Amino acid sequence: MREKKINSIKDYYEKTLLKYKDGPKAVNWKNKKSQYLRFEKICEIGNLNNKKILDVGCGLGHLVSYLDHKKKKVDYIGIDVSKEMISKTYKLKNDKRKFYCKDILKIKKSDIKLLKADYVVNCGLFTVKNNISSKEWWVIIQKIIKKMFILSKIGISFNLMKFNVDYKDRHLHYQSIDKLIVFLEKNVSKKIVIKNDNNLWEYTCLVYK
Ligand SMILES: C[S@@+](CC[C@H](N)C(=O)[O-])C[C@H]1O[C@@H](n2cnc3c(N)ncnc32)[C@H](O)[C@@H]1O
Repeated sequence: MREKKINSIKDYYEKTLLKYKDGPKAVNWKNKKSQYLRFEKICEIGNLNNKKILDVGCGLGHLVSYLDHKKKKVDYIGIDVSKEMISKTYKLKNDKRKFYCKDILKIKKSDIKLLKADYVVNCGLFTVKNNISSKEWWVIIQKIIKKMFILSKIGISFNLMKFNVDYKDRHLHYQSIDKLIVFLEKNVSKKIVIKNDNNLWEYTCLVYK
């Protein structure tokens, strides 16, 4: 059942990729400016220089270009459930930048050593729920956050759409901060920072060990 749901998400992104081919629109962002603003907030998790980063739902690996632009020297691993996305990252690959096609929900014990990183980040993975109900998507979000935390040595960061917006699109997920904090404090960590200091309809959450 969960497999079917994740496939519906994968199909959504692969259709978007087929339509736009490349650039921020191909990973469902409006433009590079807003995508880079999201990256900026996600990267406030810590000083990323000389650290190992795992980017969950890396899409076309645009975070690598952002980190290059910011002159950050990181050891980067990107994973994405979509083979189509990963196949388009080949030009970015080198010894310090690795990409794998993996569903974060299906990470095996044997993957932990390979993927364990100082910081585990995810930019936009929680935004589109497609035809999955908000209730079911929230269950999946919690599972993904727990997996991200297990794979991190220092902390994790991710973004979510604000709950109190004046217009809601049926295929997007809007998350109450209160409910998120109750979940995090009980199941993940009490060291939480919420960043709401931007003009996006989203907030960024940083959680530390
Ligand atoms: C909005 S896109 C963002 C891509 C990239 N992080 C960026 O900001 O440019 C979300 C990505 O998450 C991936 N994704 C969705 N569910 C996933 C899962 N369970 N495991 C790994 N990747 C997933 C999608 O295939 C898609 O490429």
